[in-house]
Amino acid sequence: MSAAAASEASYVLGSDAIERARLERQHAIWRDAMLRSWDQAGFGPGQRLLDLGCGPGFASLELAERVGAAGQVLAIDSAPAYLEHLEQQLRQGQFPQLRTLQHDLASSSGVLPSGLEESRWDGAWCRWVAMFLPQLEPLLDLVSQALRPGGRLVLHEYVRWDTFALHPGGSALARFVERCIQHWRDHGGDPDVAQRLPALLEARGFRLLHSSSLMACSPSDHPKTQWLLDFLSSYPTQLMAAGRWSAAEQATLEAELAWGERHASLWVTPALVELVWERP
Ligand SMILES: C[S@@+](CC[C@H](N)C(=O)[O-])C[C@H]1O[C@@H](n2cnc3c(N)ncnc32)[C@H](O)[C@@H]1O
Repeated sequence: MSAAAASEASYVLGSDAIERARLERQHAIWRDAMLRSWDQAGFGPGQRLLDLGCGPGFASLELAERVGAAGQVLAIDSAPAYLEHLEQQLRQGQFPQLRTLQHDLASSSGVLPSGLEESRWDGAWCRWVAMFLPQLEPLLDLVSQALRPGGRLVLHEYVRWDTFALHPGGSALARFVERCIQHWRDHGGDPDVAQRLPALLEARGFRLLHSSSLMACSPSDHPKTQWLLDFLSSYPTQLMAAGRWSAAEQATLEAELAWGERHASLWVTPALVELVWERP
């Protein structure tokens, strides 16, 4: 396996067109929360910002819009397919302030990759990435080195993934959630990664400026529930392919979800948190 393929494989959800389309729908649902976090961090015109684990670049394009022509955005990911998708859009020439960089955020040579000048960046945005990394140190070292003093790091990561639930009922979903967590852990990820971030960032001198919960509890027709159902319509296939979820378990899960959609139900998301940190 090539280095690129190996680092791409570390993203357990993959980078095919189906996952890319799911990320786009997910981005649309969480966009408002993202923009509020950027306001909170003071991301604005003329700044130099990083999008760490940018995926197909849905947020990167919005960062580019936010910093404007006088700013600069560097979108970093390990998956060539996602970066190529973003590059295709950049070839239309709309955002000369946005560049991409292929880099494995879980590995470190001790020096910043070229294109990432030291202490020059005003901020970094990182959403749903740390949870997939087998080591957090390379990511946090990169942020410490790249941000200028006073630069801001904004994270959206999960603090307790097993809060994902359907009430009432939901026993098949609870089993599915358990298997997902195990699958990610076996791939070196940590779906509760936000529990570890405060100590690691404090040890690097970062100051926590703001934190809040983005966890939601919604009825069936709410966009956040549609987001959960979207995940539940794609990920079982991957778990089954990995031999971790059976057709019989899937049939029970589908019946349970259909029941939940027909009745008054509470769909509770995994506990997502927003964190804004300042570099010393
Ligand atoms: C759930 S997606 C989130 C994408 C984007 N941040 C967003 O909010 O739409 C996770 C991303 O992390 C990237 N990723 C996972 N492991 C990585 C690694 N070791 N180095 C760089 N990127 C990685 C994946 O390729 C994928 O694009």
